[in-house]
Amino acid sequence: MTFVLQERFLIEGEHKLEGIVKISGAKNAALPAMAASLLTEDDCIIENVPQIEDISIMREVLCSLGASVERLEGNRLRVNAANIHTLAAPTELVIKNRASFLVMGPLLGRFGEAASCPPGGDIIGQRPIDVHLIGFATLGAKISRSEEKYVAKAPRLRGAKIFMDYPSHIGTENLLLAACLAKGKTIIRNASAEPEVVNLAEMLNKMGAKISGAGTCTIEVEGVDELHGTCHCIIPDRIEAGTFAIAGAATRGEVEIRDVICDHLDALLWKLSEAGADIVVQEGSLTVRSGRKLSAINVQALPYPGFATDLQASMGVLLTQAEGVSAVNERVYDNRLLYVSELRKMGARVEVSGQIAVIIGSTPLTGTPVKALDIRSGAALVIAGLIAQGTTEVSDIYHLDRGYEALDVKLRCLGAKIERL
Ligand code: EPU
Repeated sequence: MTFVLQERFLIEGEHKLEGIVKISGAKNAALPAMAASLLTEDDCIIENVPQIEDISIMREVLCSLGASVERLEGNRLRVNAANIHTLAAPTELVIKNRASFLVMGPLLGRFGEAASCPPGGDIIGQRPIDVHLIGFATLGAKISRSEEKYVAKAPRLRGAKIFMDYPSHIGTENLLLAACLAKGKTIIRNASAEPEVVNLAEMLNKMGAKISGAGTCTIEVEGVDELHGTCHCIIPDRIEAGTFAIAGAATRGEVEIRDVICDHLDALLWKLSEAGADIVVQEGSLTVRSGRKLSAINVQALPYPGFATDLQASMGVLLTQAEGVSAVNERVYDNRLLYVSELRKMGARVEVSGQIAVIIGSTPLTGTPVKALDIRSGAALVIAGLIAQGTTEVSDIYHLDRGYEALDVKLRCLGAKIERL
């Protein structure tokens, strides 16, 4: 019998984070940019692409369709989709993450057909894809089911007015990707305003698309006949930056976060200062310092520009160190408070009722074995380990490797005692 030992982080707690950290390119902007490269037979160069597992999965998905994806020096990717030979995404890859479903929009727009099974992704609640499918159908695609796959077909998509029931982040991206090559004008109402959607629209416009309104709840796309190659830079990862900001404040340290767009972190910075952290914002960098006592606050996770759900668990950990009773209301996903049971093992006093976690602080945490349940709960448990007395072992860190570039290396540079086993 063969046993496969999963990698773990061993963290010795109670060391302040101090120093400078540079933020990598955003996972959730790089993934749709890779999908966008399917819209042309020219080369697309994508800069500032983080070296993380989710990018490798997307790379495999594109290659399985016939594209070539080459890593160039300096975190750049060259994608060429001149020789696409299948319009069906492979199920064994699509079930590994959510973003793989983003190949549907560009394949449908460029070739008139696309197929994929429902995507996988973190276990954080119901994650339907109805807004994607309803959007494709509104653009004129016929949607059918062939075994596990959804198949979308339309000789050429027609621009239309689409109302999204929910401002789905990758739902908006998939519809933008599909609508660029549609005939006529598409108007997407109740669109997602997340910065990654804006970064995608900028790339598509550089490729010759005519998109306006990205970053607001109404996006208009004037369809064009073809798109060409481009060179596009991925925005800094606001969730990685936010994770370091919270970790700096939670350990009562001082962290300067470089290569960041501070505007993208408005909600977090507002909440951190409300809790008592000192924040200094400069052009392209921010410093988080927390000398004073932290105080309890209430936080609601909402679509952008609300507080990011991807930072909700890390903020929950910080609030275990704040004096008083805090409430964290998760309003994006219906099952994203599972990390609380791991946090309780470390001594946190948290009660969950529906979508709300009530956190009683300040409570000392004690190192113990805990499990990363998804990318962001994993990051939260690492922060808990940095605060805790004694040694914390975080298992299943493959989740973290999907979304954070060299997290342990960057933390060590800030003085954390963290080791990968
Ligand atoms: N929703 C619907 N109908 C749909 C699609 C979504 O009701 O057709 C609901 C979901 O049930 C969920 C909510 O909308 O409750 C949010 O889902 P959304 O579709 O906006 O999320 P996503 O696009 O699948 C992206 C990120 C997530 C991030 C969310 C919210 C990528 C690859 N993923 O997911 O990132 O949490 O937006 O900002 O961009 C992560 O990086 O760890 C991560 C989970």
